[in-house]
Amino acid sequence: MAPAPDRRSGRMSMKACVIGLGKLGSPLAACLAAKGLTVIGVDNDPKKVDAINQQKPPVQEPGLSELLAQTSGRLTAVTDVEGAVRQSDITFIVVSTPSDAAGGFSLRYVEPVSQAIGRALASKSEYHVVCLTSTVMPGTTGGSVRELLEKVSGKRVGADFGLCYSPEFIALGSVIRDFLNPDMLLIGESDKRAGDFLQSLYVQVCENKPALARMSFVNAEITKLAVNTYVTTKISYANMLARICEQLSGANVDVITAALGLDTRIGPKYLKGAVSYGGPCFPRDNLALAQLAQQLGVPPDLAQTVDRFNRAQISWLADLVQSRTGGVVGILGLTYKVGTDVVEEAAGFLLAEELVGRGMKVLAFDPAYGNGSRGPAVEQLCCAASALECIEKSDVVVLATSWPEFNAITGAQWARSGDHKPRTVIDCWRTVKFLRNQPGVDYFGLGMGEGFA
Ligand SMILES: NC(=O)c1ccc[n+]([C@@H]2O[C@H](COP(=O)([O-])OP(=O)(O)OC[C@H]3O[C@@H](n4cnc5c(N)ncnc54)[C@H](O)[C@@H]3O)[C@@H](O)[C@H]2O)c1
Repeated sequence: MAPAPDRRSGRMSMKACVIGLGKLGSPLAACLAAKGLTVIGVDNDPKKVDAINQQKPPVQEPGLSELLAQTSGRLTAVTDVEGAVRQSDITFIVVSTPSDAAGGFSLRYVEPVSQAIGRALASKSEYHVVCLTSTVMPGTTGGSVRELLEKVSGKRVGADFGLCYSPEFIALGSVIRDFLNPDMLLIGESDKRAGDFLQSLYVQVCENKPALARMSFVNAEITKLAVNTYVTTKISYANMLARICEQLSGANVDVITAALGLDTRIGPKYLKGAVSYGGPCFPRDNLALAQLAQQLGVPPDLAQTVDRFNRAQISWLADLVQSRTGGVVGILGLTYKVGTDVVEEAAGFLLAEELVGRGMKVLAFDPAYGNGSRGPAVEQLCCAASALECIEKSDVVVLATSWPEFNAITGAQWARSGDHKPRTVIDCWRTVKFLRNQPGVDYFGLGMGEGFA
C-alpha cells in the first residue's frame, strides 16, 4: 500500500528521494515537490545541491524556475545518498548512463549509487521502493542492479523492498509538461506491490490520465529503447522523403508528410523532413538497440542504417553549403531543438564542426548556446551577438534550429542590397518560406523541389 494523503492538507505524505539533479532529475524532483510530495534531491555536485536549496534551477529548462518557487520548502537537496534514502519511501535513480564503446550504457554512476542505497536499506525497517529511471541496457535492472541492492542490503527484492524500472519519455525543453502529461506510464516491476506503489505516486502527480503499461523489467527496458528507436526511424524516413523531394521539380515534403500523417497507422508526430535528429537520447538509444540485436545474433541492420543515414545528413548538408559559398557561413541555431541549451549531437553544432574542419569560416548564433556551463566549444567557431549580426556578416545562412525569434526577422533584414551577390538562405525547417520571393536572397528550402507548390 502507498502512504495515504495527509488528512488535513490532503497532500501526499509520501517522501521521495531523487538521486541525480541533472537535466532530467531536477525537473522531476521539482514536479514531485510541486505536487505535494516531500522530496530530498541528491547530487554529488555541490553546486547543483546549493542551487536547489536556494530554489534556483541547476540546469536550464523552461518553467523550472517557476516550478521551484511552488515547492514551498518541500524540496531540499543534500550530497549524502544514504541519509536521503533512509528518510524516504521511494528512491528514483536518475544519474547519467553514458554510452560505452560498444554502444551500450555504462553503469559507472548507477553502481555506486545502488551500493549506497543498499547500505541505507540494510538499516531501514519500513517498506521502500527503488525506481531506476536512468536508461539502461535490457537485463540490467533484474541483473546487476538487483544483485547489488540485495548483496549490500542483505535483503530480498520483492519480499523486503520493491524495485522498478520506469524511464521517462520527455524531451529537453518540455520536460515538465512531458513529465506531468505523459502518453503512457511505463513501469517494469519486481512485484505488484512495488508497481502499485509507483503507480499511486504517478497518479497523484500526473495532470492527465496516461495509459499504463506495467510489465517485467526486461520488457520495460526493451520498450524504452524501442519507442525512441521507432521515432528515430520515423524522423529519418521523413528526412529521406525530403531529400527525394529536393530532386523533383514542384515537390514539397510538407504536403506529403501532412497526408502521410493522416493515416492513423502512421500519425503526424515526428514526421517533419528537416535536419538529423540529435540530443542526449535518440542517437544513443538507437545505437543501443543495434548493439543489443547484434549481441543476440539478430540482424542489427535496421537500427544501424538509421544511425548511418542520420550521421550522413550532416556531411550532405555541409556539401550543400560548400557548393553555395566561398565566403562566411552563418549558422542560426546550434542546440538540438528549441527550448534547450544542449548541443549534444545537434545538427547545427555538428554542421559547424564539420565546416570548420573543412577550413571554412563559420559564424554562429543561438539564443541559448553559452548561457550555461554546458556545451563543448568548436575551435575557430565565432559566435555572433545576435541573429541579425550573424546574417549581416554571412554569405550563406543555414537556419538549423527553428527558434521562434528567427521568424520575426524581416525579408529586408535577410536580404543583401545593392550590387552584392544575393545572400543564400538554407531553410532547414521551411519557417521562412516567404524569402523565396525576396530580392537579395537566394532561397533554398530543404525538402522543396524547384518551383515547389
Ligand atoms: N536528458 C534527457 O533528455 C533524458 C531523457 C530520458 C532519459 N534520460 C536518462 O536519464 C538519465 C539522466 O540523464 P540526465 O540527462 O539528467 O543526466 P545529467 O548528466 O544531466 O545528470 C546526472 C546527474 O547525476 C549526478 N550524479 C552522478 N553520480 C552521482 C552520485 N554518485 N551521486 C549523486 N549524484 C550523482 C551528476 O552530478 C548529474 O547532476 C540518463 O540515464 C539518461 O539517459 C535522459
